[in-house]
Amino acid sequence: MTTTSRPDLDSLLDELTLDEQVALLAGADFWRTVPVPRLGIAQLKVTDGPAGARGGGALVGGKHTAAFPVGIALGSTWNPGLLHEIGHHLARETHAKGAGVLLAPTVNLFRSSLNGRNFEAYSEDPLLTGKLAAAYIQGLQSQGVAATVKHFAGNESEYQRGTINSVIAERALRELYLLPFEFAVKEGGTWAVMSAYNKLGDTYASEHPRLLTTILRDEWGFDGLVMSDWGGTHSGAESVRAGLDLEMPGPANARAELLEEARNDETTRQAVRTAARNVLRLIERTGTLADPRDVRDEAECDEEYADTRALIRRAGAEGAVLLKNAGILPLSDGATVAVIGPNAATAQVMGGGSAQMNAHRKVSPLEGLRAALGEDNVTYAVGCDNDKFLPVLNTPVTIEYRAADTGPVLARDTHPQGEVMWFALPDGVPQDFRAHLQATLHVSEDGEYELSLASAGLSRLSVDGEDVIDNWTAFQQGGTFLGFGSDEIRVRRTLTAGEHQIQVEFAPQAVATGMSITAFNALRIGFRRPLPDTSVHDAARIAAEADIAVICIGTNGDWETEGVDRWGLNLPGRQDELVHAVVAANPNTVILLQTGGPVLMPWLDDVQAVVQAWFPGQEAGHAIADVLLGHTDPGGRLPQTFPARLEDDPVHPETPDVQYPGEEGHVEYQEGLYVGYRHVDLHSTTPLFPFGFGLSYTTFELDAARLSTSEVQPGEPVTVTLPVRNTGTREGQTVVQVYVHDVRTTLERPEKELKGFTKVTLAPGETRDVTFTLEGRAFAYYDDTRGAWVADEGDFQLLIGQSSTDLPVRVSLRLTGEWTEQVTQA
Ligand code: BGC
Repeated sequence: MTTTSRPDLDSLLDELTLDEQVALLAGADFWRTVPVPRLGIAQLKVTDGPAGARGGGALVGGKHTAAFPVGIALGSTWNPGLLHEIGHHLARETHAKGAGVLLAPTVNLFRSSLNGRNFEAYSEDPLLTGKLAAAYIQGLQSQGVAATVKHFAGNESEYQRGTINSVIAERALRELYLLPFEFAVKEGGTWAVMSAYNKLGDTYASEHPRLLTTILRDEWGFDGLVMSDWGGTHSGAESVRAGLDLEMPGPANARAELLEEARNDETTRQAVRTAARNVLRLIERTGTLADPRDVRDEAECDEEYADTRALIRRAGAEGAVLLKNAGILPLSDGATVAVIGPNAATAQVMGGGSAQMNAHRKVSPLEGLRAALGEDNVTYAVGCDNDKFLPVLNTPVTIEYRAADTGPVLARDTHPQGEVMWFALPDGVPQDFRAHLQATLHVSEDGEYELSLASAGLSRLSVDGEDVIDNWTAFQQGGTFLGFGSDEIRVRRTLTAGEHQIQVEFAPQAVATGMSITAFNALRIGFRRPLPDTSVHDAARIAAEADIAVICIGTNGDWETEGVDRWGLNLPGRQDELVHAVVAANPNTVILLQTGGPVLMPWLDDVQAVVQAWFPGQEAGHAIADVLLGHTDPGGRLPQTFPARLEDDPVHPETPDVQYPGEEGHVEYQEGLYVGYRHVDLHSTTPLFPFGFGLSYTTFELDAARLSTSEVQPGEPVTVTLPVRNTGTREGQTVVQVYVHDVRTTLERPEKELKGFTKVTLAPGETRDVTFTLEGRAFAYYDDTRGAWVADEGDFQLLIGQSSTDLPVRVSLRLTGEWTEQVTQA
């Protein structure tokens, strides 16, 4: 069918045999659906997501692509307009990789600061998350690329994510965790949803009729496609009947017997037809029926898309949060700057896991500052490292494939560096292959070196013929490669200057993760010369010689990643020690922090300024220089509470238990509604930095607010308007935030909940009115006994300001009667 007119999906569906309908309900391979050439139904390709379009193939080593700021950096912008623009650009990126579906956005909330994947999502707050997601989705889909909002639902940590049972009370589910998805469906109009790996209330999310059909379709009116997370389908007919349309990846695994089941059962046959229609609909909506793309064609569009580069740089700066400034920033022209730290010369532009991609470039803070300040004004020292794993061996690796330990070589391959993931094998190589890898180490000086090996599969490494690491007989499943791999095994070796030969043997090994993907074949060879013990001291010395020290510290995508939770809240390695030493040598010190979430800052009182830049995408160094030099106002406001102590985090009992990370297969969200600032209010803790906080290079004042009415009829929208004035001497941005406080509530409620926000850019001295419109839901809680959203008759306060703890403007109103919205049958 090559017609460009809108096809009639029901007639097309009628033409499909039952076999063909069933075939459409699982992928053809890792990233593509099954085609039906007889009827002109082409393959639809999907790609991760969310901070770029990686393209097909493995998670590393693919085609180059544009890397955008990660989710938490976008969450910090509080700017739906910007997310719409980013979605628009990502559609072009997705098309360039031959795909019609982006596996994004991630909208799981920050329940615990230790969730490994928080970097990928936007916020601890469901309204902020939902509004940003809706804008991103609209931008993407306006260009014909489907969004896939994920992971639906209850995937707020990575611990045992393939099997864990998330136990969430109905109110917390409705008011917090489902809300971003509700926005994505109702306001964003998302065309696809990805179900989570975990169970929700004892049932896998991928076969949860209440979640996938009752709530998603019947209550919210979703008319798109639901796909499973990769390897997260657990049944054939049952999952189809529950509302899961597509098993990913393919070929069919949990659905291998689906045809037989459908033949024998009319209800399953009907469900198969409905699901096949949803697949066809997505193929149609993405333009793939009328105009199929070449799913093998993957273009690298860097030079062509200069506007995307500029957008990434702007967005990176707009997400940067100025946490402290004693007046040292912006840096003055002509200052000499010592750029110090593990994240100075190594650009940290993204997190790890399936969200990673092969960025067109990675501009480091050192490069960015050198370009902005001039080479002569910038010195550099690394100070210390912050590695979780050794840096990947940076020399080419040749690979020979065999069917067994001995026997003929079936194929040969070369990889540019020492990390390899085999998602597809060379032609003729069996699944149970053996790989023999070889690389040359170029050692410039005699000395001690570190080597490491981590693998998903069995591996062993030798140097110059001597066995050095055994990850074969000693293999144990650990914390690498999304939970499929071992831990990293490290050794030290004395090497002489010259060339050395590294050999690695590899064989696949199935592991249990609860997912239907059992073998993930990957390995990583690490190599480095350890820093001398004097490295911190050496950095302090160059700091003393400069006017200002900028210390670039934080983490990287090995710490902040998928399949494993964060390590804690302390900065890894000797980084705190580095800050203390540099400050002692030069008090004019600025901290440039790059993490995917909060960390503790024991040196906060001693430094002059702190900027949180997150992982801001490929233009990182330029965006950071723009902020440090004041070419751009730091536009970011924290989308997450930064606790002062790990114990203040909402789900951090002293010892691991069922609340976090989970016990005996269950994780109970015992804190209920009280995450983030809701928890801070309940327990009156003092965060290190509160939700919504961030400084500008200018200052703002809010004046008294006016209500359209203070006696609000149930269902009547109410508007609140207030003037915002830039009281400083520079242009700048602020985010005005409105929280609702229910004065006398029938059911227990958080002290306040964010119900509106708007970002304004004002010239010096400029005043502008900002207006918020609040409707019934803004005043409501979810009454689980009535199955309804309910706003009590009575008094409410609107708390307005520039962070969750700076809310000077207050207005009161009265709801003259109860407002309700029935959700479930009473
Ligand atoms: C992740 C998804 C991702 C998928 C495909 C899974 O491991 O949870 O977010 O889209 O892999 O890479």
